[in-house]
Amino acid sequence: MQMNDYIKLINDKLDEYIQIEYPQTLFKSMKYTVTLPGKRLRPIMCLETCKILGGEQEDAIPTACAIEMLHAQTLIHDDLPCMDNDDYRRGKLTNHKVFGEAIAVLAGDALLSYAPQIITKYSLNLSPSTLIRVLNEYFNYAGARGVIAGQVVDIESENRHDINNKEETLKYLHLHKTSDLFQLAMRTGAIIADANDEQLEDVTEFAQNFGLAFQIADDILDEISTFEQMGKTMGKDKQENKLTYVSLYGIEDAKCKLSCKLAQCRDIIRKQNFDSNIFNEIIEQIKKRVGI
Ligand code: IPE
Ligand code: IPE
Ligand code: MG
Ligand code: MG
Ligand code: MG
Repeated sequence: MQMNDYIKLINDKLDEYIQIEYPQTLFKSMKYTVTLPGKRLRPIMCLETCKILGGEQEDAIPTACAIEMLHAQTLIHDDLPCMDNDDYRRGKLTNHKVFGEAIAVLAGDALLSYAPQIITKYSLNLSPSTLIRVLNEYFNYAGARGVIAGQVVDIESENRHDINNKEETLKYLHLHKTSDLFQLAMRTGAIIADANDEQLEDVTEFAQNFGLAFQIADDILDEISTFEQMGKTMGKDKQENKLTYVSLYGIEDAKCKLSCKLAQCRDIIRKQNFDSNIFNEIIEQIKKRVGI
């Protein structure tokens, strides 16, 4: 499958999985951010990992879409005034700008439990033990030791000049706020494909490094890109005094570090024989966007 085939498949399923019920505002708010045109990288990487490890891709579709719903939840809450206070997301007004803060908070909360229910409701071909493993991954990466931990450290690192170990703190927050969902995507794809422990370790190593690279790129783009290209307001990290690769190392050094990380990702692909054009294409897209 090519990138566009994946995107169409995922978009169709996301649309099907969220039907508007009573109370309509809640379901409309959930569906709004989920169905806005994101890049769909996490579900694509879940499905592609399942495929390259010999699994039945069809079996991973509910999980892939659930991870995109979880991602949308993190975006809705990340954009709230009490967090990054952003007005635009995926080229449109943010969830709280359209539905109000209370509904946006509740829609995010709702997605957190709606998403794993999509996995249990539609993954009819998965054995009970595989299903439990997949759900365990979801709760691990979605929760207090996962993406939420990263977001907390991100917020706590704003406007701080007194952090001793900035490099370590930055790595921690990137690994959790961003790598965790890529790890979740690839690990669940691998588990559905019945991967062995070594394969699971391999995909975890790739996803960790890829997530770091992805967030370094996002930090750079916040400084050098435009609303038209990114669909969100640029320059916010500097304005909010965020701890980012750009604030810590400067643009040029951050670009160097990104090149190194992407080269490392390519090495892992080669070393581990991931036979996938998709992963290479995603890496190329990042390089092109950042201009390296
Ligand atoms: C945005 O993720 C949040 C970050 C981790 C930087 P994406 O850049 O994948 O956002 P969408 O899904 O394409 O909107
Ligand atoms: C967000 O990082 C990561 C999550 C939403 C978990 P950012 O705050 O840098 O993402 P953008 O720039 O708003 O997309
Ligand atoms: Mg943020
Ligand atoms: Mg943000
Ligand atoms: Mg950002």
